[in-house]
Amino acid sequence: MMLVTRYGLFLIASILTIVKAELPGTSSTNEINQTPKRRSTFIGGTLYPQASETRDLKRLDGIWKFRKSPTDPEYGQRNGWYEQDLEKTGPVIDMPVPSSYNDVGEDPSLRDHVGLVWYDRRFYVPGWWQTTGQRVWLRFSSVQYAALVYVNGQAATYHEIGHLPFEVEITDMVSYNTSNLLTVVVDNTLLSDTVPQGIIKDIFVGNNKIRQEQTYTFDFFNYAGIHRSVFLYSTPQIYIDDVIVNTDIQGLTGFVVYNVTYKGNSRAQCFVQLYDKVGNQVTAANECAGLLEIGNANFWWPYLMHPEPGYLYTLKTSLIGSLGEIIDTYSLKVGIRTVTWTNTSIYINDKPIYLRGFGMHEDSDLRGKGWDPVLWVKNFNLIKWIGANAFRTSHYPYAEEIYQLADEHGIMVIDECPSVDTDIFSDSLLEKHKQSLTELIRRDKNHASVIMWSISNEPRSANIRADAYFQKVAKHVKSMDLSRPITIAIAQSHIADRAGQHLDVISFNRYNGWYSNTGSLLNIASNVADEATAFNIRYNKPIIMMEYGADTIAGLHLLPEYVWSEEYQVALMSEHFKAFDRLRQAGFFVGEFIWNFADFKTAQTITRVGGNKKGIFTRSRQPKASAHHLRERYLALAAADTNSPPPESPYYVSDHLPLKHEEL
Ligand SMILES: *[C@@H]1O[C@H](CO)[C@@H](O)[C@H](O)[C@H]1NC(C)=O
Ligand SMILES: *[C@@H]1O[C@H](CO)[C@@H](O)[C@H](O)[C@H]1NC(C)=O
Ligand SMILES: *[C@@H]1O[C@H](CO)[C@@H](O)[C@H](O)[C@H]1NC(C)=O
Repeated sequence: MMLVTRYGLFLIASILTIVKAELPGTSSTNEINQTPKRRSTFIGGTLYPQASETRDLKRLDGIWKFRKSPTDPEYGQRNGWYEQDLEKTGPVIDMPVPSSYNDVGEDPSLRDHVGLVWYDRRFYVPGWWQTTGQRVWLRFSSVQYAALVYVNGQAATYHEIGHLPFEVEITDMVSYNTSNLLTVVVDNTLLSDTVPQGIIKDIFVGNNKIRQEQTYTFDFFNYAGIHRSVFLYSTPQIYIDDVIVNTDIQGLTGFVVYNVTYKGNSRAQCFVQLYDKVGNQVTAANECAGLLEIGNANFWWPYLMHPEPGYLYTLKTSLIGSLGEIIDTYSLKVGIRTVTWTNTSIYINDKPIYLRGFGMHEDSDLRGKGWDPVLWVKNFNLIKWIGANAFRTSHYPYAEEIYQLADEHGIMVIDECPSVDTDIFSDSLLEKHKQSLTELIRRDKNHASVIMWSISNEPRSANIRADAYFQKVAKHVKSMDLSRPITIAIAQSHIADRAGQHLDVISFNRYNGWYSNTGSLLNIASNVADEATAFNIRYNKPIIMMEYGADTIAGLHLLPEYVWSEEYQVALMSEHFKAFDRLRQAGFFVGEFIWNFADFKTAQTITRVGGNKKGIFTRSRQPKASAHHLRERYLALAAADTNSPPPESPYYVSDHLPLKHEEL
């Protein structure tokens, strides 16, 4: 009965919505921003959740219920969609979490939806969490772009900026021993002061506004939804809120500088223990903040730079009560290493490094940007197969599990915030841009793999306002972390750019032979070498080529080389390799990052065939000819930089001996 009534109401209101939408549209704003703001006031450490002897953890991943909002963004709120299960207030569809919602259906109106969507599910809170006095937490690893969360019909938290986690304590909102309702409203709208930026256009037929369209300048699809795992977890009343770790080395000795902070109503003592990889305790201490010294330490080394790369210790931190009881524990993996830099070089553990890597995307068939362990274990296997030692998290922070894999495998990460094609440079944008870096650094500060912060990709840095803007962004990052260099992937010329002066490392993106001089291989090597040199002369800093490449349709073969063919991609890469080898001898060139690791989805345009095809691997992670070519180079570079013999060709070709035959 109830269901029928609600259903009827929904239909009537939908019709009203259509009538309303026929009025010519006015300017559009972010829809969640239009509703009264319920900002998250929680500013905890955002530690990755884990179960321990004092904490319990449940994943709320699975199949949730889902409904698109009608054009009127307040419709769902007005009709109490958060007060009861979504399926009681109208039609719902199944929606996997984590995943983007865009590609799981067959309807372009879901793929291209602009505005709000609603998700819900039920969850169970064990009775023992209450009897043992646990706090109850809800943590979202990423919701793109903004999220409003309700628990049992009560607003719990709001978060803006996708790709970054947020959490909220819900102890007072849950019922124990029974099911609870979790409702999430997601808004994918990008505007001039969101990070990244976008523009909403109203689409008219005659005088009738029929729908909204999202446009953006960045070259990847604006996937949306609950992109990463949702966790329900418990902590004790007094709990470890954050652990901050810095490491140093001196000769063979390693140092771990740590700071354990906790929250709760009473005071506790700390106990920290450092374990090596096989579980032996190496050292321990009784202070909440201090210095651990490890003689003959195993340092964290990058892949192919050391026989045992990615060495991780475990720092187990505990809060101890007045009776000596353990109140809370949290364990953190720690790699002991230093990152230092000069005007010409970057060093890990005082040894110069050369970065061999990729720009990447969180992107795959069906899932869009949804976290997927199958995909990422495969990605890491391919990264190692090809001999790379680094990637950039272009163009936003990736899932936390990816940094954990990078720590373990010794893959260096240039960690990029979600600001891409940064433009207009308003004060409100600056605040949100800084906020994205605050949340990024708070999340990723302890990862040994993270060796550099990228504070923007291809900003319009020729704009006169870019100078003061990036001065402020850089200063903000330095106020949080002095232990890592900062960079920007610059697309402006060395003459026009105004951001480079505020950076430690200059990175540039350039598509010689593709967007410029399309189809010509002739001047690539000299153009690349000249531009890198000019950037170095202007800024007197280390230089990275952060993007270069060519779109390539897997299986298209054309000789002589012709754009979009596998042959052209290989030939274009070789011309870049010539420049890189020249630059490696110039003394200031510290890395090459091909664009892109794999093919990925973009907005629909006449320049993209089913998406961007600059991948070395296809979207299903199979190699193009270019992957084999890049592998030979990256393995050769790894060998050269460790004074090892050059690698053998992977497939036997010849012993180069002439045919033996009997002379008569
Ligand atoms: C939960 O249910 C169990 C079993 O019926 C009961 O022992 C316990 O007291 C309940 N706990 C709460 C918090 O209601
Ligand atoms: C530890 O971190 C807290 C919170 O940021 C800070 O107040 C405190 O000064 C730090 N302690 C040390 C020894 O750095
Ligand atoms: C590095 O560059 C800065 C700025 O140009 C300069 O002041 C400094 O002396 C340089 N350091 C070295 C070691 O060349």
